[in-house]
Amino acid sequence: MALNKKPYRGCRDFYPENMRIREYLFDQMKNSAHLFGYEPYDGPLLEEVELYKAKSGEELINDQIYSFTDRGERFVAIRPEMTPTLARMVANIHRQESKPIRWYSIPNLMRYEKPQRGRVREHWQFNVDIFGAAEGKGELEILSLIRDFLKSFGADHSMFSIRINDRMIVDHLMNQLLKLDEDSSYKLYKIIDRASKVTTEKLNQMIDEIITDSSAKSILNQYLGLDSFAAIKTFIKENNIPAESFLNIVSGAEELELLNYLEYDPAIVRGLDYYTGLVFEIFDKHPDNKRAIAGGGAYANLLKIFNEEPLGGIGFGLGDVTLKDFLESHGLLGDFSKKNCDLFVVTTEEEHELSVIKLANELRTLGCKTEAQLEKLKFNKIFKLAEQKGFSHVAMIESKDNSPQVQLRDLKTREIQYFSLEQAKDILKAIKG
Ligand code: HAM
Repeated sequence: MALNKKPYRGCRDFYPENMRIREYLFDQMKNSAHLFGYEPYDGPLLEEVELYKAKSGEELINDQIYSFTDRGERFVAIRPEMTPTLARMVANIHRQESKPIRWYSIPNLMRYEKPQRGRVREHWQFNVDIFGAAEGKGELEILSLIRDFLKSFGADHSMFSIRINDRMIVDHLMNQLLKLDEDSSYKLYKIIDRASKVTTEKLNQMIDEIITDSSAKSILNQYLGLDSFAAIKTFIKENNIPAESFLNIVSGAEELELLNYLEYDPAIVRGLDYYTGLVFEIFDKHPDNKRAIAGGGAYANLLKIFNEEPLGGIGFGLGDVTLKDFLESHGLLGDFSKKNCDLFVVTTEEEHELSVIKLANELRTLGCKTEAQLEKLKFNKIFKLAEQKGFSHVAMIESKDNSPQVQLRDLKTREIQYFSLEQAKDILKAIKG
């Protein structure tokens, strides 16, 4: 039986055209991170499952992780997220590093999920994290970086919003206002995290299983109805919630002109267990894209799992699939159908075939992106092919009065210039203008 030509379910083959887009997205990611002084890091594809069990949360472990026992009886997983690896790496070096530590990475991650729009099994995720920043300032830097990253594609606040909340507020709500024990709080966190994915009826039914007291229910409903910064500020005040750090971040965001990108959303609590402070998710305002483009937050205790002193971090992960959907839906992704090459060197005559390779070699040493046609082509095929492939120029070697000459054609302006084979530098000048 013939083998299946499709990639594994939920995974993608990246043909050159897809790869052009991917490289472009990655370049934008790298540029944005470098602009803020972040340095790249990477880690292994496999980690011990224990690393994720410690803090990532039950959904990731029970439903999404790809795990297996290796030949040495170690129970390992393909990384489903980068933050635990990052924490492990930072735990090794943070004592000798000056703070803050600013790192980024673009790992491929695997999660066993039902493939659908915005969800695949293997995705690439732009991770940016800062450790040991002054209180509240790391949050503002990370939010600024995300905003600037999306703006670098031409996006603005009519297209996306960063929905924020704070786990300290939610913890206070659960422990002090609703008087829930640890187990019920954990369950309620998961219910709130899923609030936007279920009907109101289902949500109420799930809440009823945890909260029976009517006054607690009314506080929770009041909380879930908070829909603006003004509303959460009043709620904080009325209920004496110690939320100075959150309020400082909001006023800092106002000062930094970030506020029109932010929204308060009580349902943002994040599905991963390690967050302890500010949490956020970025949502596309386009109706076709329901899933978060990115998610992140502050985590104070992640290094503790390695018996290290606490060192607070804050960061986000932004997926390539949701980013591409976002850019396409808003018309912000250019045309990647053509290859990125300047010049096509070609001949119609067999005797010049080696000269084609030689001239192409010379032009490459001068920095010109050049593709050589390795055997002669019929004249009427050359320009069609060059246009199809997306070259800006064609250099055709032809015989003129018994000696070779180069006919350089600009495919946009149709302008033609002639050169000798020795004039590689002049050819380059003509191409680059
Ligand atoms: P996360 O919310 O699980 O966070 O993922 C972040 C983003 O990765 C999502 O908003 C989405 O864009 C993308 N993503 C996640 N799963 C998939 C999938 N199956 N298919 C396509 N895209 C997906 C984290 O992973 C945290 N570790 C992020 C973080 C970094 N927090 C602090 N630093």
